[in-house]
Order: sequence, then C-alpha cells, then structure tokens
Amino acid sequence: MLQRRKFIKQSLLGSALLLPGMAALESQASPSKKSSGTKPLILSTWSHGLPANADAWAKLKQTGSILDAVEAGVRNTELDLENLSVGLQGLPDREGITTLDASIMQGDGSCGTVAFVRQVKHPISLARAVMEKTPHVMLVGEGARQFAIAQGFPMEEEKLSPNAQKEYDKWKVTSQYKPIINIENHDTIGMIGLDAAGKLAGSCTTSGLAYKMHGRVGDSPIIGAGLFVDDEVGAATATGLGESIIRICGSFLIVELMRQGRSPQEACEEAVRRLVAKNKNIKDIQAGFLAVNKEGEVGAFAVHPGFNYALATDSGNVLVDAGSQFKS
Ligand code: GLY
Repeated sequence: MLQRRKFIKQSLLGSALLLPGMAALESQASPSKKSSGTKPLILSTWSHGLPANADAWAKLKQTGSILDAVEAGVRNTELDLENLSVGLQGLPDREGITTLDASIMQGDGSCGTVAFVRQVKHPISLARAVMEKTPHVMLVGEGARQFAIAQGFPMEEEKLSPNAQKEYDKWKVTSQYKPIINIENHDTIGMIGLDAAGKLAGSCTTSGLAYKMHGRVGDSPIIGAGLFVDDEVGAATATGLGESIIRICGSFLIVELMRQGRSPQEACEEAVRRLVAKNKNIKDIQAGFLAVNKEGEVGAFAVHPGFNYALATDSGNVLVDAGSQFKS
C-alpha cells in the first residue's frame, strides 16, 4: 500500500524557511493540492533543498530568470560543508578522489552537463558554461577541468574535507562497497523551477555515490535520467542510486508520462514502479523523483520511505515527506 504523504510543519524547521515576502503556511493539506496551479514555484530534493530554495527564490526575484534561480539555488548546496553528497566536500571514490557531476536544462531544450570533474567548486556553473559557451552538451573529466580553467573558474586544492576524510578512513578499514540508502537523509540536489510566465528550468548536482569506482558517473549529469525539462509539458529530477535511474531514463519518462496526461504525482509513481521492476536487490536501492507540470502541480515519490523535498511558492518554503512504494 502506498504511504500517505506527511506534511512537515514549517514551524518545526526554523526561520530559514520563510522567504522574503512570504507568509507562513498554516494548512496541513496535501502539498500537491496546495500547490496546484501555483506559479512561480521551486522544488528541490531533500532538506538541503530548503536553503537552496531560499537562494533560488531570492535570485528569481532579483533577475526574473528561472535559469539563474535554479543555478543559484544548488550553488548553495555545493558550498555546504556539512553535506557529504554534493560538492567538493562530498565523499570520495574508492581511490580517495572526489569527482563531481552536474546538469542544467531549460524548457526550450538547451542543456549543459559535466561529469567526473575534479577541483571545481561549482560544477553547476560549469555545466551552464558548457550550455552557453560551447556547441556541446556534455564535457567530462580532464576536458571539463581544462574548460573550467579556460573559463576562469578557480581550481580548488584536491584535499578531502575533514568530515569526508573521517568517513573515508572508516570505510577503508573494510573497503566494503554497498550503496547507503538515504545517506544522512540526503543525496544529490535536484531542483526544478517554474516562473510566473510558465517557463521551466532545472539543475542537478552531486558528488555521486560514495566510494564509487574511479570514473563512475551516475544519473545526475545524464539528460533524461537525473533531469529533464520541457516547456510544453513540465520538468522532473531524480535522486538516489544513479544506475537504477539511468536504467529507466527516469526524468524523461516522467515528463513523457505527463505529456500523455498523467499528473506529476501519477507520473512519479509510475516511474518508481518501473524502477522497482527493472532493478534487482531493490531493498538496497533508494531512488526518488520530483516533478512539476506547466500548470504548477507537483508530484514526488520514492522507492523507500525517507525521501523528502522542499517546495517554495509565494506562500512559503516547506519540507514535505514524499510517499514511497515500500513501507519501512
Ligand atoms: N544520484 C546520484 C548518483 O547516483 O550519482
């Protein structure tokens, strides 16, 4: 049976949730109903989405650009030193090297992505530079790093953050590789946004799976897997075990299901159903999806409990528990 979504009260989550000009939400109604038809809105994965949404919202108010907003929002997470799954402070691969993946996309089909990139503090901005300043969609590894240098991005020292070093040292004792479900209740930030005029954009950035093989790339920089945006229909983004999401082309699938008439919630639930059907060892796999359609209705669903997301509208910035296919 599907779990019912639980609305987490804003008051429990601190003043960071109140964006300038927003009133606190009082209702505990279903968030998808609450936000039905709402524009503008920003939606992002996990509780780190709350401060990210706040920055995105401020940028939207400042420049009016939904693309600027989704870039600014996830830059917040890329700088969060407490976060072990996004940015250069994220957990490294099994060689002890942190490599980053990111993508950005607009509803007109323009997009840019970087993968397996080192030493760049803001891979999302590098992905945007790929989109805007090259004829390509994706740059990887050393080529992406060289492009970053050429574009004037500062190169950071290759040194694990104190938290990541501590975790890596612990991991090396057994060197056992196993994906961790809901790692500290976050993994990857995926953000999708809709402006008042109905334009959509999205961003996705991660340090990827902890202790992955050197060279492994997940879903986040794969357009159609970790992120897909189409102004005619809507947008979707993903979090969780990248391999499971790539196998079903998750974000593209959700947008196409919405194109065929499914609501964002129905489309996310169908994507999870297919992911469950196509992946073995599902008890060890967490994956979650967020979606918005061009009317401003939202949906969210995950394989296992524990996935939550942040939703910013004119009414406030709130954390919402998503439903899941399996119960705990
Ligand atoms: N979803 C992030 C990854 O698997 O790399």
